[in-house]
Amino acid sequence: MTERELCQAAVDMMARSYVPYSHFPVGAALECADGTVFTGCNVENAAYGATICAERTAICKAVSEGHRDFVRIAIAGTSDDYCVPCGTCRQVMMEFAPQMEVICLNGAGESRKFALKELLPYGFDRSWL
Ligand code: THU
Repeated sequence: MTERELCQAAVDMMARSYVPYSHFPVGAALECADGTVFTGCNVENAAYGATICAERTAICKAVSEGHRDFVRIAIAGTSDDYCVPCGTCRQVMMEFAPQMEVICLNGAGESRKFALKELLPYGFDRSWL
């Protein structure tokens, strides 16, 4: 899948977001080393802390289907600024693919790319355990 297609998949997923509280839809498209793509959206809950971000939805779908080798993820939001992953999602990405790339889109469809290591410098991982 091209980068443009991956970004479009993330944008399309915003339509599936369940966001009755924040009204802030987020879509994600996660590409694995073998080219498989898993998508996700945010799923909110009346108990706000039970909300699941779009990125973790996609990652959990991938891991539960036997994929852990992630290359890049596109994240789409409706904000003026680029939709960057929250701290928890950065940590979950770090668990499986510290070298992965993170492509963040704004509401205009423009994108900015980061290395996960840039977004989570000196992150905690299994090497401490
Ligand atoms: N959200 C995501 O889906 N991904 C992020 O990394 C940032 C936040 C969602 C969670 C919640 O449904 C809404 O955005 C507002 O925080």
